[in-house]
Amino acid sequence: MSIIKVALLGFGTVGEGVYRTIQSHQEELRAAIGKNVEVVAILIKNKEKKRAIDSEVLITTDFEDIIGLPDLDVVFEAIVEKEPSFTYLKRALLKGCHIITANKEMFSHHGKELIELAAEQQVSVGFEATVAGGVPIIQTLQQLLKINNVSAIQGILNGTSNFILTEMREKKQTFIEALKLAQQNGYAEADPGNDINGCDAYFKLMVLSGIAFGEQPELSCVKINGITDITIEQIELADKLGLRFKHIASIDRKEDRLHATVIPTLVSKAHPFYHVEGVENAVNVRTDLIGSITLQGPGAGMFPTASAMVEDLVQVLQSPATEVKSRKQKTVVKKDEQTHATSYWLVCKLKKRLSLNSISYSDQLSEEVYAIKASKDQLVKLYEQNADLITYPILGTFELESERKEATLLLTR
Ligand SMILES: NC(=O)c1ccc[n+]([C@@H]2O[C@H](COP(=O)([O-])OP(=O)(O)OC[C@H]3O[C@@H](n4cnc5c(N)ncnc54)[C@H](OP(=O)(O)O)[C@@H]3O)[C@@H](O)[C@H]2O)c1
Repeated sequence: MSIIKVALLGFGTVGEGVYRTIQSHQEELRAAIGKNVEVVAILIKNKEKKRAIDSEVLITTDFEDIIGLPDLDVVFEAIVEKEPSFTYLKRALLKGCHIITANKEMFSHHGKELIELAAEQQVSVGFEATVAGGVPIIQTLQQLLKINNVSAIQGILNGTSNFILTEMREKKQTFIEALKLAQQNGYAEADPGNDINGCDAYFKLMVLSGIAFGEQPELSCVKINGITDITIEQIELADKLGLRFKHIASIDRKEDRLHATVIPTLVSKAHPFYHVEGVENAVNVRTDLIGSITLQGPGAGMFPTASAMVEDLVQVLQSPATEVKSRKQKTVVKKDEQTHATSYWLVCKLKKRLSLNSISYSDQLSEEVYAIKASKDQLVKLYEQNADLITYPILGTFELESERKEATLLLTR
């Protein structure tokens, strides 16, 4: 039986997970691809670290040792940052290897170029692990896109920020206490800044945008707010209203333009993300034919991420070459998605009460905190009058107390 020879770039959480999965799932791999898979070399940075790797595997800190290997079939990449990853993967493609990456930062910037180069070289690119770890969202989207037109994608794409928000609500911990716990449990990235400021979720959203819409919005047009402003008081207040804070990355296409945000959002019980807790990720996709579907599962971790990468291995070996699967989507704009349409918001630090006069519905929840129903235009006016205003959109079914009273009045008149 012939052998598929693979090299791993990186032997951290993900790289080691891939190595151990290839060892433990040889039988399944043989059944799927009819060949043995052998890890022949591993690139690392620090030669001093002790690692459980078979003695016949080449361990090196020099990429030239890897790229010089004869008969290399596949290169897995699980290192960090855009470079040197991008350069290494380009060289692997030029050598005729399939590549499989988990590196969302690099792939959100250079994915298109790598996919095009792979197509020229008649090899494939696997990147399922770049978004939502073990959740098979990339393959699902690629399957859906054959016929469906995607109108919008929403996701909880960062497990660390979701874990922090869950801990703050359930255990009444401060943001700093919850972040420390996330780091102790190994959930946070090496630089947790990217988890909590929204950059990590932004990278993943851009990967999804490239597949679903064939393009990415300019960074300057994407509103990215992290979770650091959210207080326990706000979380408790939301809880009383039946709402939970989630850090949601969204993208949709309206009037032929992409609109993307990565912002803290409140969801009601009716929303599919309400019960997505802890380090779980979830992605909701809306299309013209199926309506709405949600995938949920572990967004990170050694074996969920390795699973996505080893599934990619089977995929790239079974499909002859990468096709550029994204295509220009038809724009589907529903009436209630126009900017003048009203929706619900929690507004905090609203100092000038008079500025609410133009808004038909508002409930005061505590000092300077209101739940309101307003259009985006009305919200812009509130910002003009209240420099420190913080607003959170509310998704799912929600009704203000004042509206309920209004409805009761109408019924009893
Ligand atoms: N952790 C997850 O659950 C997860 C999930 C999905 C995607 N990802 C992505 O997967 C990638 C790897 O994540 P990780 O958690 O496995 O990171 P990690 O534990 O920090 O491991 C990184 C590995 O890359 C090696 N490395 C770093 N820079 C290198 C360089 N310039 N040359 C050679 N080797 C280098 C390190 O070598 P040493 O061991 O010698 O230090 C280490 O083995 C990242 O891009 C991350 O965003 C992670």
